[in-house]
Amino acid sequence: MNPLRPAILAAAGSPRMKRMLTGTPVTANIVRRFVAGETRDELIPVVRELLDSGRMISVDFLGENTTDRAQADATLAEYLALINDLAALGGGLEGGAAARVEVSVKLSALGQALPDGGHATATENLRILCVKAAQAGVWVTVDAEDHTTTDATLGTVRTVRAEFPWLGAVLQAYLHRTEADCWELSGAESRIRLCKGAYREPHAVAFQRASEVTDSYLRCLAILMRGHGYPMVASHDPVLITAAERLAIETGRDAVGFEHQMLYGIRDVEQLRLAAAGNAMRVYVPYGNQWYGYLTRRLAERPANLAFFLRALVGDS
Ligand code: FDA
Repeated sequence: MNPLRPAILAAAGSPRMKRMLTGTPVTANIVRRFVAGETRDELIPVVRELLDSGRMISVDFLGENTTDRAQADATLAEYLALINDLAALGGGLEGGAAARVEVSVKLSALGQALPDGGHATATENLRILCVKAAQAGVWVTVDAEDHTTTDATLGTVRTVRAEFPWLGAVLQAYLHRTEADCWELSGAESRIRLCKGAYREPHAVAFQRASEVTDSYLRCLAILMRGHGYPMVASHDPVLITAAERLAIETGRDAVGFEHQMLYGIRDVEQLRLAAAGNAMRVYVPYGNQWYGYLTRRLAERPANLAFFLRALVGDS
């Protein structure tokens, strides 16, 4: 984990920084590296190419922390149209187990943060999305946001899972609570995407040192792989990818008994290698014009990403 990460995430929260980053044409080049496009028309050729390369996809319509009901409704409408377009590309089951096409969604984009009835609105919007996804043979996974939303998000997931047991959830290994959440959510049919965690979190709730986060990830991964659900190993870290493969052998999971997941634009060669070796490999593909929060989390997690951005800013890229 990048030692400058907390400082970068703090700076990214300032409106002045946001104006500066979104106002410079150079940013567009960086955005294109991590984001598949601003519209569905730009997204579709990208995901078609990923599917043709033997990888599976999870598409995220960018947006978070909606405090306006009309915006939450518009986000739901965009997801419903997206599912239609993705189903035409290749919904249905991969290897008898996994849907090749998935959407990822942040509950704060579906209304969770609305001042009045946010929890109920997000839960109902997620249910509507799952109805549509089930008809289309597309999976849905709920992203994890900052720790103040974890209880509400897992509460919504539990409610909607009663009707749609294939609904996935994300757990963040940097949170102290996550090992216990893994025990609770490692049962049959439970799809859990395990990631390190990308937000700025206080000492009271989250491990801060990279080595502590990796150790926590390894403990959580062992619980999920030894459990009865479907682990989704969301990491670019070679240590964790190797650990997942070792645990798969130890627990008798075959290559479709779990999946590797990486972000669009990161370690493309490794993604192709894993897919070519017969592993289930899914790429998380964001699109939309609300890319600021997503981009700053990518810049914060890796010095090389930040250096790429700074070089571009001074015209050396
Ligand atoms: P990390 O960034 O610590 O990198 C570890 C090692 O991986 C590096 O030392 C290097 O060896 C290798 N590596 C990483 N990037 C590389 C590159 N570009 N080239 C070469 N090597 C590289 N977070 C969250 O809070 N909520 C969420 O819902 C999600 N959802 C999500 C979905 C998916 C599919 C993924 C992959 C990730 C998320 N995340 C997330 C983000 C996640 O929490 C985390 O911030 C990033 O994945 C970065 O952590 P890594 O585990 O990849 O390791």
